[in-house]
Amino acid sequence: MSGSYIAGKTIVVGVTGGIAAYKAVEVCRRLVDAGAHVIPVMTAGAEHFIGRTTLSALCSEPVQTSLWDEASPIPHTRLGQSADLILVVPATARLIGAYTAGLSTDLLTNILLATRAPVVICPAMHTEMWEHPAVQDNLAVLARRGVIIVEPDEGRLAGGDSGKGRLASPERIIAAIERTLGPTDLAGTRLVVTAGGTREPIDAVRVIANRSSGKQGYAIASVAASRGATVTLISTVGLPTPVGVDLVSVETAAQMQAAVSHAAQTADIVIMAAAVADFRPKTVVANKIKKGDGIPDIVLEPTPDILAALGATKRPGQILVGFAAETDDLVANAGAKLQRKNLDLIVANDVSAPGVGFQHDTNAVCLLRPEGPMVTIDLTDKHSIAGAVIDAIVEIRAGLT
Ligand code: CTP
Repeated sequence: MSGSYIAGKTIVVGVTGGIAAYKAVEVCRRLVDAGAHVIPVMTAGAEHFIGRTTLSALCSEPVQTSLWDEASPIPHTRLGQSADLILVVPATARLIGAYTAGLSTDLLTNILLATRAPVVICPAMHTEMWEHPAVQDNLAVLARRGVIIVEPDEGRLAGGDSGKGRLASPERIIAAIERTLGPTDLAGTRLVVTAGGTREPIDAVRVIANRSSGKQGYAIASVAASRGATVTLISTVGLPTPVGVDLVSVETAAQMQAAVSHAAQTADIVIMAAAVADFRPKTVVANKIKKGDGIPDIVLEPTPDILAALGATKRPGQILVGFAAETDDLVANAGAKLQRKNLDLIVANDVSAPGVGFQHDTNAVCLLRPEGPMVTIDLTDKHSIAGAVIDAIVEIRAGLT
């Protein structure tokens, strides 16, 4: 990873009214220490939790709280336009709701609507509120619009409760800002990524499927797009399409192969994050197989190995990335796949470990290359894993060009 991209940047920090407001003070201090020009903005709610003087003293300008300041008319457009990044820490359910709905109720929501700068929000609230469908739906909409959401941690909450909803650590918040302000180091590249598990039909209603959620592939698509790549996402699942990404929907291994081999012709980078079925029914029964007809013999045949085919026809300079979901001998098995499929990088995860791989929001992986060191990434969110995969690809490209 790189040095600080925060130095010299103007960051508007919006603080809203939650108990975690006191932690915003530490985040502001770290941003100032990293060389940012930090402009604090507080909502009326925030003033119940921390004093203006605290933020004004720590930041680069006095705190702003109102749209109606004669000394500085239309502060929201001035602040929104001058910012390199807007950070909201903590972000309450109210702020998230207003921002999603496009309601400009106070200075901070006006700034959020008036800016073209990237926005990072750090939700913090009680678990029940965090899990409420209204909040989750709003966050999904914001994520699709390109807002970076730093998910809360699990831990102690106000009033002695505990659960998910505790503000992310200052380290995670600063890392998200670094990533957001970091280089668009994939600018000018075309990247293809697959996501989800294929579904292979048995008859008119039944399929052979697997447990892949597609979340890791979507996270890679999102991170790659934010770092400047032109991204085609070939997917079997219906998650919200990340902003700026072209989606191709497929269902079977054969459809995925057709879409991937077409897109790969012009791609600089192909990442096979999908869980492709290795076998499919040899014949698909046109109608529904009826119970009364007895137990069917379903004869399987192998599917095409999409990645191996790409590896066999790889263009000079093209980067091929595979995934290996293993339950035993992680490094040895993944290393063998790397060689066999002629890959530049393989992302290996032990899907038997808790919180790893299929259907989780978190993952833990080893990144293996034909030469060079193995990188191990401990359990973290899938966006962070995606960032590490893209970092490795950027390193490989730097060695190629
Ligand atoms: N893959 C593919 N086409 C297939 C099967 C897998 O492109 N028909 C890709 C996956 O997307 C993944 C990588 O190959 O990136 C590893 O897949 P996996 O099924 O784990 O490897 P296999 O070679 O099938 O080995 P094994 O079944 O022994 O684990």
